[in-house]
Amino acid sequence: MGVVASPAGERSQSEEGQVCGMTGGHGTEDDAGDVVGFLMAQHQQVRELLDDVLRAGGQERQQYFDQAREMLARHETGEEMIVRPLTRKAPDGGAVADARMAEENEAKEVLAGLEKMDVDSERFVSTFTAFRQSVLDHAQAEERDEFPLLRQNTDPDALAKARDRVERAERMAPTHPHPGVRTTTANYVAGPFVAMLDRARDVLSRG
Ligand SMILES: [Fe+2]
Ligand SMILES: [Fe+2]
Repeated sequence: MGVVASPAGERSQSEEGQVCGMTGGHGTEDDAGDVVGFLMAQHQQVRELLDDVLRAGGQERQQYFDQAREMLARHETGEEMIVRPLTRKAPDGGAVADARMAEENEAKEVLAGLEKMDVDSERFVSTFTAFRQSVLDHAQAEERDEFPLLRQNTDPDALAKARDRVERAERMAPTHPHPGVRTTTANYVAGPFVAMLDRARDVLSRG
């Protein structure tokens, strides 16, 4: 989901450079080290976190939810900023990219609503249960329709570089959903986040 842009002030210094629960390490010798391998490993982490949210209760559930929200925000920001432009270059990639962006935007709105709910309320459980399924379906659609297209149509070097860019984009991504804006471009230029995002773009353009 296009989970981007939260008030810059909400990010503490300690959040800088920290990517919650993400896989680290590099290794571009094989497919697992490219951007697709990196994102698929994160999908697995997201699946586990979503299960943890429903399994836990009270404060523990809140913590798992916060982790899931932050990880999704970072992950989807990396996909939107770095991966979608590559997808669009592939044959028929425009339609695939548009479909994934639409799913991410929808999920972003649901996530913003969830964030305001009491995690032990019935409303949270029913909304989160549906949200979990839509995230699972979205990840499956990426793995089935988007990632193979990327690997078939993108130079392996470019896929390895894209991994580095995604990792950097994720480190700089805001961690709360911002459902008011629906396009990728608007996500990154709207609101009081321009300075931070300019900085992000500067760093990314150096890669
Ligand atoms: Fe996604
Ligand atoms: Fe994804």
